[in-house]
Amino acid sequence: MRFLNKKHKLSQDSMEEGVGLITLTDPTSVIAEQFRTIRTNIQFSSIDEKIRSVVFTSSGPSQGKSTVSANVAVTWADQGLDVLLVDADMRRPTIHQTFQVPNKKGLTALLTNQEVDLNQVIQKTPVDHLFVLPCGVVPPNPSELLNTRKMDVLIKELTKHFDLVIFDAPPVISVTDAQILASKVDGTIMVVPQGIADKSSVLKSKELLEVVHARLLGAIMNRVKSENNGGYYGGYYGGYYGGYYGKNE
Ligand SMILES: Nc1ncnc2c1ncn2[C@@H]1O[C@H](COP(=O)(O)OP(=O)(O)O)[C@@H](O)[C@H]1O
Ligand SMILES: [Mg+2]
Repeated sequence: MRFLNKKHKLSQDSMEEGVGLITLTDPTSVIAEQFRTIRTNIQFSSIDEKIRSVVFTSSGPSQGKSTVSANVAVTWADQGLDVLLVDADMRRPTIHQTFQVPNKKGLTALLTNQEVDLNQVIQKTPVDHLFVLPCGVVPPNPSELLNTRKMDVLIKELTKHFDLVIFDAPPVISVTDAQILASKVDGTIMVVPQGIADKSSVLKSKELLEVVHARLLGAIMNRVKSENNGGYYGGYYGGYYGGYYGKNE
């Protein structure tokens, strides 16, 4: 595990090294506090219906989906709720690296016809109440695997065992995986890196998610410049809350 890297340019190294878990390594930091605010905002984004499953996505690659979903998962588990973080980014899986767990068998084994049960693939983490389901062997056909009845049954099963199931997904534009997942879970959250994501791609992603009737809970501004820390952004678009965390420099 490592701290967030300080380079502004998008790095591709999270597949080798995992992402920074500042909520674990520095829980009293401003950034960790912002993750707790994001958690609270997500919790309160639906008052009538309890949210049991969420997917994190973004318009493009390397925008912070894995970083944000893993840190939000830690803050959720810190409250004593049993949380499962699932690596559903079968294009660029990172969760096994972030939490240093074996990745021989994971989500893909559960979705193909292999004889595995949940206990064999769900792993403990150093965080109490936080469990992870790594991706496993990268399959040639991720969207086909996600778009199955088996996946529906799996989500149902996982939400029976855990208070919250968080899916880390690929970007919305270019592959359909995130749309498929968004259509199956209770809520979808977009990660939007300030100054990196372009407006038209973000709007296009929103449209693609609406086509599948995703329930958009909000957008998280990522990589917000440090001079803005301490303030909050309003909604990025209709009905969105603006939680974010900034660069740690
Ligand atoms: N706010 C941030 N500040 C600094 N580095 C960040 C921030 N968010 C993400 N990163 C880094 O950017 C890279 C891509 O982030 P990642 O979460 O893996 O993106 P994605 O899952 O969308 O591909 C990683 O190396 C990660 O550590
Ligand atoms: Mg990722």
